[in-house]
Amino acid sequence: MTEQEQNVQTAEKKQVIFSGIQPSGTLTIGNYIGALRNFVKLQNDYDCIYCIVDEHAITVRQNPADLRRRCLELAAIYIAAGLDPQKNLIYCQSHVSAHAELAWILNCFTYMGELSRMTQFKAKSAAHEDNINAGLFTYPVLMAADILLYQTNLVPVGVDQKQHLELCRDIAQRFNSVYGNVFTIPEGYIPKIGAKIMSLQEPEKKMSKSDPAECYIAILDDPDTIRRKIKRAVTDSDGEIRFDPESKPGVSNLLSIMSALGDEDVDSIATRMQGKGYGELKKETADCVIAALEPLQAEYKRLIADKAYLQNVIDTNAAAANSLAIRTLRKVQKKVGFAPRG
Ligand code: TRP
Repeated sequence: MTEQEQNVQTAEKKQVIFSGIQPSGTLTIGNYIGALRNFVKLQNDYDCIYCIVDEHAITVRQNPADLRRRCLELAAIYIAAGLDPQKNLIYCQSHVSAHAELAWILNCFTYMGELSRMTQFKAKSAAHEDNINAGLFTYPVLMAADILLYQTNLVPVGVDQKQHLELCRDIAQRFNSVYGNVFTIPEGYIPKIGAKIMSLQEPEKKMSKSDPAECYIAILDDPDTIRRKIKRAVTDSDGEIRFDPESKPGVSNLLSIMSALGDEDVDSIATRMQGKGYGELKKETADCVIAALEPLQAEYKRLIADKAYLQNVIDTNAAAANSLAIRTLRKVQKKVGFAPRG
C-alpha cells in the first residue's frame, strides 16, 4: 500500500462511538437534551453504535412483556429523534451473542475487589436487597464487553458511569499487556453542549426518570401532561425572571429548558420576559417544549405503528453488529487458547 492509499484509509476510518441504553423506564427531556439530540449531530462524523442493553436490564427484575415492548419503543424513539438506522447501528444486546461470550472471558480478567468497589453495585444492592444476584455484581464486565467488542474509541457517559468506564479501560489494558494489542482503549466522551436539566419538583436535583412522574417530562408526554407538569413546577417567591441557578434553581431550570429547546440564550429569554410573571414563563416554557417534541412524537407514532419496519431495523442492524463483534471475539478466543474452529 502506498503512503497515499494509507492516508486515504485512515481518513476514511471514522472513530467508533458506542453507547448502551437500558430499555427500562421512560426517557425524559433531560435525556433528549443531554444525550439523544447530540447523538443526532454525531452521525455523520462517527460510526455510532447504540445498543439497547436488555441483558443489563435483567440484573433487576423486569416484567417480561414490558421489557419486550420497551426494546422496540426505544428503537422507535431513537429513529424518531433523527438517528438514521442506515448510518447508526441500533439493535438489542441479546441478539448479538458475542456480548455475553466476551463478558465471560473478561470475567476471568476482572477481580472481585474491583467489582466490590463499584458505587453503583453498592447502591443497587442496597435498593434490591432481596435480589443481589451475580449479574448485578458483574454488570460492569458486560458493559466492558459491549464497548471493547467494537474497538470503540469514544463512549458518551454521564458521571454515574465514569467508574464503569475506568474499569473497562483497566480490563482492556490488563488483557492487552498479556496478549498484545487486542483492544482499543476507549475514552469517555462528554458532549460539548447540553444544559443540565433539573427536576421540576426539586430543582436542585437532576431530572430523573426514577423520580415520581411530576418531577420529569417524558419525551412522549402529551401536550396536556406537559402543561400540567410545568404549571406545577417549583419556583420561588421573589417573582423576578432571572437566570441564577444558585438562588433561583426552579426559574433557572425553566429558562434552561426553554433555551436548550428553543435555541435562545438564557439571558436573552430572561431580558425578553422581564416584568412578566411566573405564569407567563411557565406558559412559554410549555409552548416551547410541546413545539420542540411535536415532530419527534409524530414520527414516533408513525414508527411504532409499523412493527414490521422496526423489527427489520433491529434485525438487520444486529446482523451488522454481529459481523463486527465476531471479529474481536474470535481474536480474543484465539489469544486465550480456545481450540480453533475447523
Ligand atoms: N450502564 C449503562 C447505564 O446504565 C448502560 C450501558 C451498558 C452502557 N453498556 C454500555 C453505556 C456501554 C455505555 C457503554 O447507563
